[in-house]
Amino acid sequence: MPENTYHVAPETIAAAPSGCPVHESWSPLSESYLADPYPIARQLREDHPVFWAEELGYVVVTKMEDIQHVFMHPDIYASSNVQNPLYPLAAEATEILSAPDFNPVAVMSNRPEPDHGRIRVYTRKGFSNRRLKTLEDYMYERAEVLIDQMLNSGNSAEYVKSVAFPLPAEIVFRLIGFPREDDVMVKGWAAERKAFSWGKPTAEQQAQIAEHMLAYWRYCREFVAQRKDERRDDFASELLDAHDADENELTYREVESVVYGLSFAGHDPVTNLLCNTLLCLLPRRDQWQAICDDPALIPNAVDETLRFESSQVAWRRVTTEATTLGGVDLPAGTPIFLNFAAANRQPEVFDNPDDFDIFRGNANRHISFGKGIHLCLGAGLAKMEARIALELLAKKAPDLALAEEQDLSVFPNITFRGPEKLQLVW
Ligand code: HEM
Repeated sequence: MPENTYHVAPETIAAAPSGCPVHESWSPLSESYLADPYPIARQLREDHPVFWAEELGYVVVTKMEDIQHVFMHPDIYASSNVQNPLYPLAAEATEILSAPDFNPVAVMSNRPEPDHGRIRVYTRKGFSNRRLKTLEDYMYERAEVLIDQMLNSGNSAEYVKSVAFPLPAEIVFRLIGFPREDDVMVKGWAAERKAFSWGKPTAEQQAQIAEHMLAYWRYCREFVAQRKDERRDDFASELLDAHDADENELTYREVESVVYGLSFAGHDPVTNLLCNTLLCLLPRRDQWQAICDDPALIPNAVDETLRFESSQVAWRRVTTEATTLGGVDLPAGTPIFLNFAAANRQPEVFDNPDDFDIFRGNANRHISFGKGIHLCLGAGLAKMEARIALELLAKKAPDLALAEEQDLSVFPNITFRGPEKLQLVW
């Protein structure tokens, strides 16, 4: 396997470290956990803060202080596995992905130091104040168009289709430079990537996903090749300018791979966040009314949503050397599952953690954007999108409510959390 390959499927499922408490049946992919992870996550944290999940083949870490410790020690807890499939892949998918031109390299979330730091210098520039300011105006304009269209369409609508799917995709794809007409196609491929790296697809599904991932990667490569010849005012062109200035500082393959990585990271969790803010606020009419009366409360309401009903409930690491965490000895090579759902509701950190409270003083202490050198690059952008959507909805539709009797199921995966559909009425 070449160095820094973007997705590396495990060959086998790991075995429990000796002496580690074992949970034989819990799985983050079980129906009950996907439906409501919080009571189960609390029980897991109370029983054994660090334990081995037999079904998953990972050591699970549930306490805020332990998760922060892991994030702050990247030399001991590497992020190289965060984009990998959870389980070994079947032969057909492996064959498809062994195409010689399927060669994205790890660039951001899954690249070790010092290269990660070198590349992050350039990717941070894509989120400069100047670009975010331009994007804020564009975001407001596009959010208003989509929300007006939805509100003018009658007295009810499905929010994912109307706003939560198209808005984040438009923002990040315009930031990168992808043409608007490709939005639906690229977003469809991204949903499959979620199943590939964080779900448990069947062998048949894996083969189809692998075909589409290959198509996704080829699309990114063709797009970068076009930009190479014709620069525009977009992030892909900026990365190519940096590559031209010093091709060792940012290689051409790294530019292609940043486009591949960012075009996924930048919208799927935001779609979930937009839905989750409404899921939390609309049933609590007093809190919804409070933000309608005073939009200055919205930023904290967004952070409280990220704590209480996060769009990202887990992330991963792997140990590079033998170490001890929460009193449990871990050998080198131990896969680690960081359970944000447990930590974001920890009573030692948050008073009455199972209450949603937009007035909470420390809502922003949640761990949903990670911490340390890999801290989410798009945190400000994601929060800005959620704030703008809420400002517009609170102003234009104060009588907005969730439709009764709806299916709020989430896409089965270990990390990303938000309803696939959200029916609203007004
Ligand atoms: C609610 C929305 C989002 C959530 C919950 C979220 C969460 C996360 C998390 C947990 C990490 C890993 C942090 C770590 O390993 O320490 C991460 C990394 C990252 N996120 Fe986000 N993210 C969101 C939105 C975005 C957006 C909008 C973008 C870009 C437009 C983005 C780009 C990235 C990138 C590039 C990384 C890797 C950073 C690095 O390794 O240096 N994310 N995000």
